[in-house]
Amino acid sequence: MTTQNPLSVIIVGAGFGGLAAAIECVNRGMKVTIIEKYADSNSQGDILDIFPNGGRVIKAWNEGKVGEEIHASGCNKIYDMEIHKYDGKFISTVPWAINETERDLTYAGHRGKLHSIILDYAKTLVPDLRIGVGVIAYLENDKKAGVTLSTGETLWADCVIAADGPRSIAREQVLGLFNEDETNTDSKWAVFRTFFKTDEASRAILKERGLFKEDRDTLRFWMCDNLTLLAFVWNDGLDVAWALVHPDDRESKEGWGNSNIADPDHLRKWMSYFSGTDAQTLLDITPERKSIDFKLVYRPPISKWTSTGGRTILIGDAAHANLPTAGQGASQAVEDAITVAYCLQNCEGDVRLALEATQRIRFHRSNAVHKSGQANRDAFFKTPWEDIEADPDKFTRKRWPKLKIWDPLEFAEKQFPKVAKDIKDNVPGSPEELAVPVPDGGYWYVPGS
Ligand SMILES: Cc1cc2nc3c(=O)[nH]c(=O)nc-3n(C[C@H](O)[C@H](O)[C@H](O)COP(=O)(O)OP(=O)(O)OC[C@H]3O[C@@H](n4cnc5c(N)ncnc54)[C@H](O)[C@@H]3O)c2cc1C
Ligand SMILES: *[C@@H]1O[C@H](CO)[C@@H](O)[C@H](O)[C@H]1NC(C)=O
Ligand SMILES: *[C@@H]1O[C@H](CO)[C@@H](O)[C@H](O)[C@H]1NC(C)=O
Repeated sequence: MTTQNPLSVIIVGAGFGGLAAAIECVNRGMKVTIIEKYADSNSQGDILDIFPNGGRVIKAWNEGKVGEEIHASGCNKIYDMEIHKYDGKFISTVPWAINETERDLTYAGHRGKLHSIILDYAKTLVPDLRIGVGVIAYLENDKKAGVTLSTGETLWADCVIAADGPRSIAREQVLGLFNEDETNTDSKWAVFRTFFKTDEASRAILKERGLFKEDRDTLRFWMCDNLTLLAFVWNDGLDVAWALVHPDDRESKEGWGNSNIADPDHLRKWMSYFSGTDAQTLLDITPERKSIDFKLVYRPPISKWTSTGGRTILIGDAAHANLPTAGQGASQAVEDAITVAYCLQNCEGDVRLALEATQRIRFHRSNAVHKSGQANRDAFFKTPWEDIEADPDKFTRKRWPKLKIWDPLEFAEKQFPKVAKDIKDNVPGSPEELAVPVPDGGYWYVPGS
């Protein structure tokens, strides 16, 4: 890029996808503008995990300092997940990471906290970061792509990256997908989600029940037919988050905010399947009106992430909103981000080629992960207790998703030359055929095999 002007990139949305894209583009010499609608979304959300496939990207930022800060603030002392039956019987443990190196690349903590740390780093790199102003229209002509802001101002750049989340307006404006396309996406599941700070009394209870330990963060999982409950206790017992996936019997809504608070009776009804266990203890110490009831929405994978003109691309949840049961929302957004930045860096000014290459490199990988969220959910529809209790380790080994062991930059580096050549040669085929297959298609990884 020494012989040309740096590419200019407008990024819409300062979530994990938008921020990661901004950081990776600036670090590759591009000129970046970020537009974010909300002044403060950091108060919402609960626990967020970034697994090694996204974590290795973050680890590289600012000589490892961003990752260190996240570890220092979050739950960096998880070693394993303890699996329990609904009646409290201990089944088995699943390692949190395959070895110490991979554990170091796994980031978890309060979503707002992780987001603030990454936002603060992005601010040191991107002078043109506009917070509190939304994009109302996506624009494109032969030479540029642009956006109109809610202030009426219009900005132009070489390309636009729309990282505007699951309810992206780019889906409609850029891809022509209308809301009617989403009418069949009610998954029939919802999730109660909670985050709260403990007081001394509740910490004492957690300690008594073994949910708070001095030397480590605890992660527990309880299973029942149709119900899964995942609970984190971290930060020396100061922070608690739990999530209970349940049948959506009350038409819950999709939303992180205060408008979505769960009805305490409704919550108790589903929690009662775990009565007498430590799960019940968690509910007992959860402050009233601290839980939301969040509808799980299936958004089927889409085959095209780029505009007709080729200068605008959707990434992150805007392109492929995973179910939270994949645990991969942020990691996948980060995979998109480094891929698009790498392709832009290596496209010799041909932005359309870069965005098309990004989509081809990410397509099958992203869809495989997308499916895993559904598979995870469906795996607990009816729990085969007899098989599990006969051989608990066999069951827990199957729960180790191979998809975490992945280096998105290495994959992009390896695939880009061939993909770029296909694009230049106009090789014909459907988006599925032209996209890069996921090696060995496998999703589950069995340690030791
Ligand atoms: C408030 C909130 C809380 C969340 N809490 C959790 C959690 O606790 N655990 C978890 O696993 N996941 C949580 N998520 C989801 C998780 O952050 C995403 O799945 C993942 O990080 C993918 O990120 P993304 O950047 O693609 O999308 P998002 O994180 O949704 O970011 C999209 C960003 O775009 C902005 N935006 C949208 N439209 C416009 C527009 N027109 N103009 C400008 N900006 C716009 C939004 O304000 C948002 O900041 C939360 C998301 C949000 C928004
Ligand atoms: C940890 O596991 C990863 C993934 O299998 C592997 O690539 C890496 O070499 C391992 N590291 C160590 C120190 O064993
Ligand atoms: C699980 O959900 C299915 C479908 O909603 C229902 O038929 C079944 O009875 C439920 N099982 C239990 C134990 O609630």
